[in-house]
Amino acid sequence: MPASKVIEDAAQAIGAEYRGKKAGSAGDAGTFSFFPTKNLGAYGDGGMVVTNEDRIADKVRTLRFHGCREKYYHEEIGQNSRLDELQAAILRVKLKYLEEWNTSRREKAKIYDRLLKPLAAQGKITLPANDPEAKSIYHLYVLRSKHREKIAKALDEQGIASGVYYPLPLHLQKAFAYLNYQAGDLPLAEEACSQALAIPCYPELTTDQQEQIGQVISSVF
Ligand SMILES: Cc1ncc(COP(=O)(O)O)c(C=O)c1O
Repeated sequence: MPASKVIEDAAQAIGAEYRGKKAGSAGDAGTFSFFPTKNLGAYGDGGMVVTNEDRIADKVRTLRFHGCREKYYHEEIGQNSRLDELQAAILRVKLKYLEEWNTSRREKAKIYDRLLKPLAAQGKITLPANDPEAKSIYHLYVLRSKHREKIAKALDEQGIASGVYYPLPLHLQKAFAYLNYQAGDLPLAEEACSQALAIPCYPELTTDQQEQIGQVISSVF
């Protein structure tokens, strides 16, 4: 049996750390997304694979370029996954600000933690976990609540966006029906999908806006 490899999905986590190690560096390879909504977002699709293993780097370079090491000579079936130059240029400029934006998101998260603490203490909502060994970059600030739909509706009525990431766990997705999982098989994942609600979190968000969001959420209860 070939030795197994760990690929860390760090799509949402660029700049985050756990025990002083950057997200994406824990496994044999790490993957990042530059989808426009991400903390480091391009103006179109893009992504990155990082690794310290030459063999993996070589394999990924080959796969992203139609399976070629040498142009027009296809060693295997790959795909066109080269990072578009225009996106690369945009990302290169934005990269300089990433640390500052991530710090700002952490500050926004702290403000939400403070504003929403009373509701959490009453058991109405659950706040994102704060692991002292982790440094989150809060790509999203995700609450959990049995009253998610009511909260989302109240926010929407005030013109405030919220999002559900994600509504259906992988084991219940049609694409994986062949694995024969049933509802109830992974209760924690299913519960997370039924309760998670991301509220606005981005560097430009003002404290006034956060206070308004806090008030709207409180008004539900
Ligand atoms: C955890 C996670 N993995 C993978 C992806 C896919 O990234 P992309 O759309 O750049 O392929 C996303 C995108 O939202 C994600 O959040």
